[in-house]
Amino acid sequence: MAISLVGSGKKFVAIFHSPKGDKSRDSEIVKEIVRHNPNVKSVLKAYTITSGRHRLQKKKLVWGSKETEVVHREYGYSLKVDPRKVYFSPKEAEIRQHVAARVKPKETVMVMFAGVGAYPVAICKKQPRVGQVMASEINPAAYAYMRENIAINKIYDERILAKKGDSSKVFRSSYGKVDRVVMPMVPAKNYVKTATNFLKRRGVVDIYMVTNEREMFKDCERFLEREFKKLKLKYKIVERRKISLYAPHKWKVLYEIRVIKK
Ligand SMILES: C[S@@+](CC[C@H](N)C(=O)[O-])C[C@H]1O[C@@H](n2cnc3c(N)ncnc32)[C@H](O)[C@@H]1O
Repeated sequence: MAISLVGSGKKFVAIFHSPKGDKSRDSEIVKEIVRHNPNVKSVLKAYTITSGRHRLQKKKLVWGSKETEVVHREYGYSLKVDPRKVYFSPKEAEIRQHVAARVKPKETVMVMFAGVGAYPVAICKKQPRVGQVMASEINPAAYAYMRENIAINKIYDERILAKKGDSSKVFRSSYGKVDRVVMPMVPAKNYVKTATNFLKRRGVVDIYMVTNEREMFKDCERFLEREFKKLKLKYKIVERRKISLYAPHKWKVLYEIRVIKK
């Protein structure tokens, strides 16, 4: 059984996945989690897949404290989150590091769908000489955590500019001024046009997509070819990599794409 642990020190929240109606194994699973992880204070059961505008799973508290806000630690920075109110995946820490490591000094970076600020913070910590990071998020709870997480991690000088709202509507004054756009959300493929609007004449897009296991990347690449043709933009896939299993026979993947405006 896949279990996610969010938190640090003496306070963790554990999340496991199981269909809503099926309670038969809940108490056995809780017992196992608590036995192996004595600092778990709450256990949540996620009984839907990630869905809706805020990309949330429905979660039920099946054991412990209803105070589910925690401070999660990864790669030397802290992220305050309440997994019942916002999307947050501790398992994506490594892919965040991977993307953050690609950012070059002085780059201007736009993080769309920024959640609690995990990407903006990871980028500033991994590349302290980054120029400007802009970040947009539509879920007010996630946006509030992002503001807090910028402060908690002592990222000063307005290095991260965060805005609440639709990533396709905010920061329009930054069209043509961005070196790299990060799009860490599966339905991000619907926002490729906006992402390329942000880019300078030459730029990079990091985008999450979903590929069918039978095709493994080919379906995504047919989509990208169609999309960039429609936008009349030259592009080159620099890298493709698996992130995690998204659904049976479907993988969440990351593409790094170099874009050149003609
Ligand atoms: C899959 S989560 C990723 C969060 C974060 N980037 C991370 O990696 O932890 C996607 C986030 O995008 C937000 N979101 C969805 N549609 C959006 C939109 N059109 N504009 C801004 N944010 C959006 C959701 O509320 C959610 O927090």
